[in-house]
Amino acid sequence: MKPIKVGLLGLGTVGYGAFRVLARNQEEIQRRAGRGIEVTKIAVRDVERARALVAGACEVVGDPMLVVSDPDIDIVVETIGGYDLTRELVLQAIANGKHIVTANKALLAVYGNEIFAAARKANVMVAFEAAVAGGIPIIKALREGLTANRIQWIAGIINGTTNFILSEMRDKGIDFDAALADAQQLGYAEADPTFDIEGVDAAHKVTIMSAIAFGVPVQFDKAYVEGISRLAAIDIKYAEELGYRIKLLGITRRTDAGIELRVHPTLIPAKRLIANVEGAMNAVLVHGDAVGATLYYGKGAGAEPTASAVVADIVDVTRLHTADPEHRVPHLAFQHDALSNTPVLPIEEVTTSYYLRLCVADKAGVLAEITRILADLNISIDALLQKESREGEPQTDIIILTHETQEKHINAAIAKIEALETVLSKVTRIRMEALS
Ligand code: NDP
Ligand code: HSE
Repeated sequence: MKPIKVGLLGLGTVGYGAFRVLARNQEEIQRRAGRGIEVTKIAVRDVERARALVAGACEVVGDPMLVVSDPDIDIVVETIGGYDLTRELVLQAIANGKHIVTANKALLAVYGNEIFAAARKANVMVAFEAAVAGGIPIIKALREGLTANRIQWIAGIINGTTNFILSEMRDKGIDFDAALADAQQLGYAEADPTFDIEGVDAAHKVTIMSAIAFGVPVQFDKAYVEGISRLAAIDIKYAEELGYRIKLLGITRRTDAGIELRVHPTLIPAKRLIANVEGAMNAVLVHGDAVGATLYYGKGAGAEPTASAVVADIVDVTRLHTADPEHRVPHLAFQHDALSNTPVLPIEEVTTSYYLRLCVADKAGVLAEITRILADLNISIDALLQKESREGEPQTDIIILTHETQEKHINAAIAKIEALETVLSKVTRIRMEALS
């Protein structure tokens, strides 16, 4: 059989990683795919640099539309990133009958519904393993390996940059800014790391997993997103004293009222395996009704770990290229006409437990006032820690861990607590998950 032809959009970290892995493992990949896979055309901005990298192995062009409209190309692999240009390129490639492989979580979280609909109409595949947790085959696990299950929840460390920052803050006792500077120096964080540290990148990824897990459209605009930029080193220390670690988790859960879809710093028991995922590593915990909890761990970023997922998708598409479209795995795992309109819950309706840190005047009766407010709102206290006040300072920290309650109740409690004269600053609130 003649080789399948691949056009590559971008030859940066991921694109060049995929190019190298395809070239290095060519023989084994061909034996697995059943036919050769040839990269025939690459589009970049800096054509000279790319020509030097590929050393004559294929054509390099400066206009990505030349890849998308090349009649010989079967699969377009998009590794440019961003929304506007890539949306246009991917939709045009689909219209031209090309299959798509992409690592672009931002594109799919925001425009996934439009792209999948176009692909269905054109009978082409859109594969996106690399878009979530880099080299970890979590999309394959959710779409295929766990297909027997009614998935109940997913909780993932799905942004390496923020996990590295949190690990540094804990291990070295340094604050957020210093840890971010380390991450930037080591090349983990982007030059503009806003999407990483503000939780947006993790929200893109959990949005995609949520759609596949629960058979709903991708709904990034409904996700609750809170990053780690306001996290204080003192809370990481107090959490540790109480037997918890703080991780930036992407969480999606099925409840009777709807689907939770949220990203925020989260206290998790230190004894959980996922709490011990350190540095830039990723891990995703999936709970299915039949299988129970399963944990997927590995590198969530970097040239070759991400290329591992991109190339696996190219092989999958190659194997299914000639298959009847009806027999392919649906893009979001569920048949497109069987997607449900289960609502995504606003954060006020989410039920979880909470870590609260209060800076209070060190006087009689303060604790009683605070616990009264919580009791009046039916919020039960699970643990309480009062720090000794430092010598000469008339104030102290109180840390309260609550049992589960709805976010709207904790909001009401915090508003009342902050109004007390004896409470000296804003209450720090971090959500907690038992993940049991
Ligand atoms: P890079 O910035 O390293 O590479 C982007 C590539 O796209 C470059 O080769 C660049 O060309 C090319 N490019 C940019 N604009 C254009 C344009 N207008 N026309 C043609 N080519 C263009 O990005 P990454 O490889 O890091 O990321 C790519 C995608 O993969 C993103 O969606 C990202 O979110 C995703 N991803 C990245 C991971 C990682 O570890 N880096 C992990 C998982 C997903 P030139 O070389 O000439 O500048
Ligand atoms: N910026 C992302 C991270 C890259 O830090 O995990 C992988 O998607």
